[in-house]
Amino acid sequence: MNIAIVGAGNVGQALASSAVRAGHSVSISSSDAAGALEAAAATGARPAGSNREAVAGADIVVIAVWYGVVDSVLTELGDALQGKVVIDVTNPVKPDLSGLLFENTSAAEQIQARIPSVPVVKAFNTVFAARQANPFVDGVALDALIAGDNDAAKTRVSALAESIGFRPIDVGGLELARGLEAFALINMLIQVRTGGSWQGGWKLLEPAA
Ligand SMILES: NC(=O)c1ccc[n+]([C@@H]2O[C@H](COP(=O)([O-])OP(=O)(O)OC[C@H]3O[C@@H](n4cnc5c(N)ncnc54)[C@H](OP(=O)(O)O)[C@@H]3O)[C@@H](O)[C@H]2O)c1
Repeated sequence: MNIAIVGAGNVGQALASSAVRAGHSVSISSSDAAGALEAAAATGARPAGSNREAVAGADIVVIAVWYGVVDSVLTELGDALQGKVVIDVTNPVKPDLSGLLFENTSAAEQIQARIPSVPVVKAFNTVFAARQANPFVDGVALDALIAGDNDAAKTRVSALAESIGFRPIDVGGLELARGLEAFALINMLIQVRTGGSWQGGWKLLEPAA
């Protein structure tokens, strides 16, 4: 797959390194060309001089910036997103982790409303960056919880997640992103309360059929 990653911080670099390791063609952009070059050198991705350059030719675009930056990124990308699948990894938490920015909606639904003709899939937000780079804990594959309204888009994102090493689980429509964003906040609060390693991840255990 051709994967573009917009944002070259913890998440951008973690997912870039995983996707490169899985054999995908990966481009990465940041707020400036120097940041993209640095991230590319660290991950094996292809540096892009701009966000528009990064997404040209991509099948899947991962928006790996803070939620507050998303609007300007979408404005910049504009029609360059047509025909692609957008993955929203954002966690719109309040700075003091006292809650989420939204009630009765989610960052993913807000992004989908902003780009209605482009399928948005919520994915990877429930996983800390360290585990996006290495989705195994004690040899057990973590779950990639995926929500979206477009089944074909979710199938593509599930294939990407599986290729990286996750067990993908389609949790339902994009409205379920509200739950996934809350899941991420709960994991952060657990880490704070327990002095955790920020390396844990969610796993749904079921008895064998
Ligand atoms: N960290 C985690 O474990 C984790 C896990 C799941 C989800 N998330 C979510 O993932 C998103 C990114 O988190 P992060 O920890 O990776 O943050 P981060 O380390 O601060 O990285 C954000 C990146 O976005 C870049 N950026 C800023 N404005 C940009 C623009 N206009 N165009 C392109 N790139 C731009 C930043 O560049 P500069 O540094 O030059 O500003 C930086 O490289 C957030 O929404 C967060 O909630 C994080």
